[in-house]
This record gives sequence, C-alpha cells and structure tokens, in this order.
Amino acid sequence: ATTDPYIAAIPKVELHVHIEGIISADLKWKFSQRNGQAIINPRTNQPFASLDELRDSHDTLKPRTGSRMDNTEETLSFFEAYYGGFEVLKTQQDYFDLAMDYYEHAAAMNVRYAEIFFDPQGHTRVGTTWETMMCGFRDAWLKAARDLHVASKWIMCFLRDESPESAMQHYEAALPYRDMIVGIGLDSNEVGRPPSLFDDVFARARSDGFRITAHCDVGTSYPLEHIRQVISSIAGTGADRIDHGLNAASDAELMHLIKQKGLGMTICPWSYIRHQPLDEVFQRIRALHDAGVMIAVASDDPAFMEDTWVLENLLVLKKYCGFGNEEMRRLAENAIQMCWASDDAKEDML
Ligand code: HPA
Ligand code: ZN
Repeated sequence: ATTDPYIAAIPKVELHVHIEGIISADLKWKFSQRNGQAIINPRTNQPFASLDELRDSHDTLKPRTGSRMDNTEETLSFFEAYYGGFEVLKTQQDYFDLAMDYYEHAAAMNVRYAEIFFDPQGHTRVGTTWETMMCGFRDAWLKAARDLHVASKWIMCFLRDESPESAMQHYEAALPYRDMIVGIGLDSNEVGRPPSLFDDVFARARSDGFRITAHCDVGTSYPLEHIRQVISSIAGTGADRIDHGLNAASDAELMHLIKQKGLGMTICPWSYIRHQPLDEVFQRIRALHDAGVMIAVASDDPAFMEDTWVLENLLVLKKYCGFGNEEMRRLAENAIQMCWASDDAKEDML
C-alpha cells in the first residue's frame, strides 16, 4: 500500500523486470498443485509438504537486506532460488498465468508500457518447448494490451553462464516470435563471463534489427571492464542500454562515456540494497543522476526482494535520494525516452 498518491498516479514505463523474477512461493505452489507435480526441496531432497514450508524456504534463499555480500554466497543462493522457479512451469496455461500476474500488477501501478525479460534457455533446459512458453506469453501479451491497457514487448536474455553456441541456437529458435521481441539482453551469473563472449550473437541480432542491452551487476565481483564492453564494443559499437551498471558511478571516465553515447541505465534499488550498504547505493544512484546520466527505475525480481514492484522501487529511491515530485516525474520521462517503442506508441504513454 502506498501513501504517495502522486507517485502512484504517474504513468509508468518499466524496462527491467524478469518474468521469472515474479515467481513467488505462492505462484510455485499454485502451478505445482494444478499440475500434480511435487516441488523438491533442494536442501533435503524431499517434496515440500505445504505452502508454508515452501514460503519459508523461498524466504531463506532470498538475500538479506542491509549488509555487504560481495562473495558468491549471495549470488548462488539467489540463483538457486530463481532457477528453482523455472521447474514448476509446465503448460501454456502456466506461462499465460505467470505473464498475466505481471500485467495485473502493472495495471494496478499505472504501468502503461513494459519491456519484459525472459530467459528461454532456463526453460528449454528443463524440457519446456518454445511453443508452450511463447504461446502462453503471447496470449497474455495480447490480452493485457486489449483489456488492461498495458502495452509491452519482450527482451530475450541469454544466460551468460551458458555457452555462446547455446545463445546462438536460442536466438535462431526465437525468430518465429520476433513480433513480440524488441531486444536482446544478457543476464545470469556474471562472474568470469564478460559480454565479449557473446559478440557474434549480439552482432547478428543488431544486424537483424534488434535492440541490445546487457546486465552489469553491482558489487566488487563485477569488473568495470564488463561495463566498458557493453558501452563500446558489444554488437560492434556497443549496446543501446545498460542494465544496472551502478559500479560505473565510481569511474568518471565511464560515466562520461555513458553520457556521451546517450545510453540509459535501468536501476533497480531493491536489487542492490539486498546485498550492498544502503547509503552507498543511493549515493551512487544520485551521482549518476546528478551527472546527467539517464536512469530509469525498475523492479528486476519482485518475488526475490520484499515483494517490491516498480512502485516500491520508486518510493525507496525517492526517500533515500531525497527526490521531489519534479525529479520523480523526470525519471518517468527518462523511461519513456529510453524505451524501444515507436514514437507513436510513446505519445500514448503520457
Ligand atoms: N542479475 C543477473 N541475472 C539475473 C538477475 C540479476 O539480478 N535477475 C534475474 N536474472
Ligand atoms: Zn535483472
């Protein structure tokens, strides 16, 4: 519940949310019950006996807010929980319901347009077909635009801890669905996986007309060199946006480059404060904003934070960056400017 009607009423554009990042314990339980498929507790190898037990496990694997966790412990427990969610999605109806769950939240927060990430490799490797996945998403995509007035496009992300060959195979398999897909991204565990590994598939996507973005996660485990590649070299001349990239706030040269190229950055405050000191996070976000870098606020993985959607991310940023309504309005306009919808569609977003 919000106590900030002004922020609630702003028409919003959300550019960084993983559809799999909204798979809460409750949604997992719903799908597994419906499909008659037990969920195995990875810590005990036994099926979860109740929703409460599953909720407890989900909460334990969620990173804790407040202290610095740059080591792999935080990353691994997050990914264990996150990829666990993929296994409960079995039918086209599951994919439809999952997407509708996002769209209903979006409509309630006055989100007018979203670019939604999905990770096809995470689905195909547990045996889901492209058709099951994309037909479920497609029906929801059309229904949301028609009935909820939430327009959207999808961004296919490659898992950077999978091979470049797998990325290319998935790229080709996605082409029949390209009316839904506006861009290509890069996510999953960044340790030891520079964006340059995926040069070939990004260059191909660029020449086929897709927009390009890539995650640069936050914390000392992730080198500035990855941000440099995203700015300057992936897909030939660099990406069209950067996802996260907050580490750049400590490097004047990188900030200058980002500004010079007009790259927007998607910023997801709840994702950072779950494993980095709060003061530092908001100082850095402010530093980017004050330097004139275009940032847009988004939610990343609401079910793996504190049930925090784009609205809650805007509110926490407003509070700790000390922004007034005018600055919050500017952030909303940044998102419109940064999005990959047509100019006509952008006019309808205000
Ligand atoms: N980082 C990298 N990959 C991800 C994330 C993230 O925060 N969320 C979902 N996939
Ligand atoms: Zn993300």
